[in-house]
Amino acid sequence: QKRRDFAGLCCLVTAGATRETIDPVRFLSNRSSGKMGMAIAEELRDRGGQVTLILGPTHLEPPCGLEIVRVESAQDMYHAVMEREANADMIVKTAAVADYRPVATSEHKVKKQAGNLMLELERTPDILQELGMRKRPGQLLVGFAAETQDLDRYALDKLHRKHLDLVVANDVSKADAGFAVDTNAVRIYDASGLLAATPLLSKREVARTIVNHMCDRWRRNQDE
Ligand code: PMT
Repeated sequence: QKRRDFAGLCCLVTAGATRETIDPVRFLSNRSSGKMGMAIAEELRDRGGQVTLILGPTHLEPPCGLEIVRVESAQDMYHAVMEREANADMIVKTAAVADYRPVATSEHKVKKQAGNLMLELERTPDILQELGMRKRPGQLLVGFAAETQDLDRYALDKLHRKHLDLVVANDVSKADAGFAVDTNAVRIYDASGLLAATPLLSKREVARTIVNHMCDRWRRNQDE
């Protein structure tokens, strides 16, 4: 018998990569498959949450029983999230959003030319930062940090700068953890420091640990 500790709560989860168009046949992206975010969405659904999953391009079938919103670019994800954030009791930003996009998108396929090709990039909107600024009392905001070094420092810096309740740090330099694989190992922090460090587990088991910490934090936020 599953706990129904998220019954009636409106949960917004983002998952997967974004694609930033260069020309009609090329884009910039990353290795995120959407598996980690989908596992969190499933866990929240099974515990009674009303889940909206904002999902970047993936070949994987999203879980049933959720509202699925498909997006492509960081800009699309920004709009999809901002349209829904005010109604969300909690927001989990698992997506690997591109930090940069091409300044210009070519209408036609870019042809090979002699010598090097320069691609000028500009910053995409920082969705998590904006959510931190808009956060209303009681709302729960969970960010991720994919790092290859200095996990604790970078994760806590993100938590403070972006006004997060929790941050989940992924050491993506480890084999079998992070992007695209079925397993993960994470460290979960709140403002007081490290709350939990999981061993290598299935993404569904990691999702359960994250959601357990979200539940504790949600209850505490409601009491404050
Ligand atoms: O999808 P999988 O293949 O299962 O892989 C899972 C994962 C490795 C992608 C996931 O566990 C993970 O670590 N997600 C965060 C990836 C990431 O982009 O981290 P970051 O440190 O670059 O970004 C930090 C946070 O800011 C993230 O919550 C991200 O969603 C958010 N962000 C980043 C850039 C941007 N423009 N807007 C954002 O909101």
